[in-house]
Amino acid sequence: MAKQLYIETVGCQMNMLDSELVVASLRKAGYELTDSAKNADTILFNTCSVRQHAEDKIYSALGRLKHAKTHNPGKIIGVLGCMAQKDQKLIFERAPYVDLIVGPGQLHQIPELLEKIAAGDGQQLEVSLDRKAGSRHEVEQSFESYDPLRDPSMRPTPFQAFARIMIGCDKFCTYCIVPSVRGPEQSRPASQILAEARQLAGEGCREITLLGQTVNSYRHEADGRMWRLSDLLVALEDVSGIDRVKFVTNYPKDMTDDLLQAVRDLPKVSTYLHVPAQSGSNRMLKMMKRGYTVEEYREMMSRIRATVPEATVTSDFIVGFCGETDEDFAETVELVRESRFKNSFIFKYSERPGTKSADLFPDDVPEDVKKRRNNQLLAIQNAISEEDNQPFIGRQVEVLVEGPSKNAIKHGEDERPVVQLVGRTMCDRIVVFDGNRRQIGQLLDVAVYDANAFTLFGSVVTSHVGPEVYSL
Ligand code: SAH
Ligand code: SF4
Ligand code: F3S
Repeated sequence: MAKQLYIETVGCQMNMLDSELVVASLRKAGYELTDSAKNADTILFNTCSVRQHAEDKIYSALGRLKHAKTHNPGKIIGVLGCMAQKDQKLIFERAPYVDLIVGPGQLHQIPELLEKIAAGDGQQLEVSLDRKAGSRHEVEQSFESYDPLRDPSMRPTPFQAFARIMIGCDKFCTYCIVPSVRGPEQSRPASQILAEARQLAGEGCREITLLGQTVNSYRHEADGRMWRLSDLLVALEDVSGIDRVKFVTNYPKDMTDDLLQAVRDLPKVSTYLHVPAQSGSNRMLKMMKRGYTVEEYREMMSRIRATVPEATVTSDFIVGFCGETDEDFAETVELVRESRFKNSFIFKYSERPGTKSADLFPDDVPEDVKKRRNNQLLAIQNAISEEDNQPFIGRQVEVLVEGPSKNAIKHGEDERPVVQLVGRTMCDRIVVFDGNRRQIGQLLDVAVYDANAFTLFGSVVTSHVGPEVYSL
């Protein structure tokens, strides 16, 4: 019988893509995917270190597996990704029954490492030894270069896929662990990305999301020309089968006019821009080493509004960063009020060992203050989201249908032919409407009749039946 693989993924879209590649390589090695950890022969956790909470979740999941090998001594437990790179053999110390630790740059070695473990070679650990080890050469040997192995079952939906255009990060924001676990910033050749997009289109993908920690810093020189993100978007416009192209996450300083013009002019490019501000206080931005002032962020916002008026902008904020006062926080509130983001992801500062801010500044904002600021900012953002969704009522939007809605799944109705469906607009708004399962994966016009802060509610616009239908 085929070996059963269970995989759990936390963290960002990079990790979701990595898990897809790991699963594809293990299927090739004869594994089957299962959703039961209990019955699995191999359990893998693809981990995140961005906040303490993400790590705690994995360590407690590992804790629950303490006796997992009693019934099945051959069971293999592996920890992959950013926390594997950060904690390395500490994971063996905290959970001695773990068999495998693999960093984000070594994931392609997993099939071989699992074989070694099965052959009785004992625990295996493969991580980058220093940041330089994540060099272009090493990357070229890994999944992070072009790898034709993909697995549609691991995608958000069969017709939506991620494609990595950059790996790593060199920005070193003082609070952030990503540069030390994901290695140096490198852009992939445009030719590889375009080949991957064509392959994905061939597999039935209609939407591609380009990934990079600072995706708009993309730069790659090939054949005597410099490719920027805007050039890549122009080239992707010609990939037939692909109807929508998104890209995340943008770095405010690199939001150049050529990119905004590409978003305005290219019909397939989503009018959705995720450009995290992190704070509205210059004092905080400086301590975070974000590389811009709030005035520069505002200037960028007005360029976005002037060039692509229909664009939706979303942001991330960290509240309770080292030494953040009520005045600093008030400046963040002000920025949120005036920027009218579609939504904001708000995080309480979590000190990460090994980062600059952990070394330099005490984590001195009390937990209850962090919590209060988080809730306050979220309430302000949600009120704005709700207000800005109201003008959609009475309008028609084009939706890429993703599948049955959460509600339909919760009520066990997702297999019915007529079902509540969910999809997204070009500007990344979520739309819920009643439809037919065969409409999943299609682009449909939906008339919106209601809206709250997070969702538009609508009904499918019945297509016009032209005379040619009767001419048969
Ligand atoms: N590369 C992306 C984001 C990477 S992490 C960017 O630069 O925008 C995603 C989000 O997690 C960040 O935008 C930030 O808001 C948050 N984050 C990162 N490190 C954090 C920390 N130590 N504590 C709390 N939130 C953090
Ligand atoms: Fe982290 Fe800053 Fe790099 Fe984003 S840009 S991954 S926040 S260091
Ligand atoms: Fe987390 Fe690693 Fe992504 S730390 S946010 S999974 S790059």
